[in-house]
Amino acid sequence: MTEVEKNRIEELDPLWLLNQYRVAELRGAGAIMRMGRLADDLTLTTDLSRHLRDESVHAWLWTKVIRDMGGQLVEMDEPYQTRLALNFGIPRSLTDLLALTWVSERRGVKQYKEHLDVAEASPLIKRTLRGILKDEQWHVEYISKELQRRVHADARVQQTIDKALEADLTSVDALRAMPELDKVAAHDAGQPL
Ligand SMILES: [Fe+2]
Ligand SMILES: [Fe+2]
Repeated sequence: MTEVEKNRIEELDPLWLLNQYRVAELRGAGAIMRMGRLADDLTLTTDLSRHLRDESVHAWLWTKVIRDMGGQLVEMDEPYQTRLALNFGIPRSLTDLLALTWVSERRGVKQYKEHLDVAEASPLIKRTLRGILKDEQWHVEYISKELQRRVHADARVQQTIDKALEADLTSVDALRAMPELDKVAAHDAGQPL
């Protein structure tokens, strides 16, 4: 992790960050549920069912940590996923959704690992991050295998993967360029539930 990334996590209000994680996990669960309805293969349907269970559990774990820390549950935008969807465009197939989910899961793993490296993070947060990371690594792995299977069947799928990777990088660049003040404003705009 670079010094800049470490400082970025340290400067953020932990409860604001945990609310972002919670919202991202809930959004993730919604996306996986939609994909489950499109899957036409027993292995993929089985993996997506387990994946849906994981994201729901993760949303619950962050909910519990926020409440244990005495925080409010806040409905807010999840800036990365919003930008990723804008940069990629409307997903038109299961392959599009898989590629988007794959880049988003990789980004989630990176964020959680960076957070785990922050020495000041509380033991409760670190324990939760470690538990969730095991699942997240499996998500990246099985979707990657499914995408590779699809590339073997149709080489054009690689273009979809490349497009998702590009949308991911563009989104992250835009977020890094965002002034800290805007992040605070986004925080304040959140409505406690
Ligand atoms: Fe998750
Ligand atoms: Fe995940």
